[in-house]
Parts: sequence; structure tokens; C-alpha cells
Amino acid sequence: MFELIIRDVVAEDIAAITAIYREAVLHGTASFELDPPDEAEMLMRMEAIKDAGFPYIVGVDDNNTLLGYAYASTFRGRPAYRWCCENSVYIDDKAQGQGVGGQLMAELIARCTKLGFRQMISVIGGAAHIASMRLHEKLGFYHIGKMPATGFKHGKWLDSVFMQLSLGEGADTDPDLDAYPGTLYRQKTKP
Ligand SMILES: CC(C)(COP(=O)(O)OP(=O)(O)OC[C@H]1O[C@@H](n2cnc3c(N)ncnc32)[C@H](O)[C@@H]1OP(=O)(O)O)[C@@H](O)C(=O)NCCC(=O)NCCS
Repeated sequence: MFELIIRDVVAEDIAAITAIYREAVLHGTASFELDPPDEAEMLMRMEAIKDAGFPYIVGVDDNNTLLGYAYASTFRGRPAYRWCCENSVYIDDKAQGQGVGGQLMAELIARCTKLGFRQMISVIGGAAHIASMRLHEKLGFYHIGKMPATGFKHGKWLDSVFMQLSLGEGADTDPDLDAYPGTLYRQKTKP
């Protein structure tokens, strides 16, 4: 057993992140991408997420071997959505089923709550993706709907399953209208 250390992502993590995501793109349904992005593209995406003010975290063991990563990002871009984020979590095949995804997601939820986000949405690729649905259910996410046959990958149609978690005071109170949890929305231009 290993002790999981959770920390902010750094550029040096990108090779390992790219390798984990590559496996998920090539062999899984979580991502609807068909061609694995290279390290330069993954670095660019990571920097864009961080620049926008979202958390991007990694889990490493005590040898600093990267076991998985998680981040939040824009759910939809129009400004009224700005207290609502989407989550992503990917764990190395060899480290799955050992609590890494659960711990990373718990930390991501805590960070997003602290930043002022009120809702987190998970878009799960494929209604047969039991591991992801169970993980999110265990964290308190509930099912909010399904868009049937929205993807075609590995020779079959895939549903998109939506799950949601209320963060902090959720919809019980109005959000801080001056808060821009994702700095992306600082731009006050017409959307
Ligand atoms: C889904 C995924 C993130 C789960 O991460 P993980 O580290 O393997 O999960 P954990 O070990 O933390 O398990 C947490 C809970 O998830 C559920 N779970 C995880 N794997 C499961 C499986 N194969 N079957 C059923 N439930 C499973 C269980 O409820 C588990 O809690 P328990 O161990 O107390 O029963 C991981 O399998 C993964 O990276 N898959 C590929 C990418 C992906 O699907 N990402 C999600 C897209 S947003």
C-alpha cells in the first residue's frame, strides 16, 4: 500500500498525465476524444485551466510517481454559468481501485467549494461506465439525466450520463455576484 500525496500540478507532470490520458482515450469511453493529444497539447490545456483559476491536482506516491490527476473546468461558457464547473479525473490503470480517484475527487470538491463554485457536473462517457458512476455516487453526486447515443466510439453508440453535486450552500443562497471563481469570466464583454 502507498501513501497518496495530493499536490498542484506542475509542468514536469505532463509526460505522466499524457500517458494516463492516452490509455483512456485509446481504450476507454470516459473521453470522447479519438486521438490521444501529445504532451504539448496537454501542457497547453493544463495551463489554460490553471490560468482560468480552476484547480488542477495530481496524486503521487512517496517516490513522486504520478498515479492520477483531476481538474475542474468550465461547464458552459456564458457568464451565468460561472458558479458551475465540470470535473475530470483520470487514474493510471495500475493504480485504479485503490482509492486514488476518490481521494483526488474529495480534494477537488473541497477546493472548488472554497473557490465559491456552487455546482459540479460530471459528464460520464457511456452508460456502462460503472466505475465512474459508482465513484461519483460515493462522493454524493446524483443522476440528473442521460443524452442517449451522443458519441460513437469503439464501434458502438455511447450515451452521455450527467451527474451533479451541490457545493457549499448550493442553491440555498445567492452566489457572490462579484465573485468570478473561474477568472475566465472576468471579461465583461458580451458573450
Ligand atoms: C473512474 C476512476 C476515476 C475511478 O478511480 P479509482 O481510483 O479506480 O477509484 P477508487 O479506488 O477511488 O474507488 C472509489 C469508489 O469508486 C467505485 N469504483 C471504483 N472502481 C470501480 C469498479 N471497477 N467497479 C465498481 N465501482 C468502482 C467504488 O464505489 C469505490 O469505492 P469502494 O472502493 O469503497 O467500493 C478510474 O477507474 C479511471 O480513471 N477510469 C478511467 C477514466 C475515467 O473514467 N475517468 C472518469 C471520467 S470524469
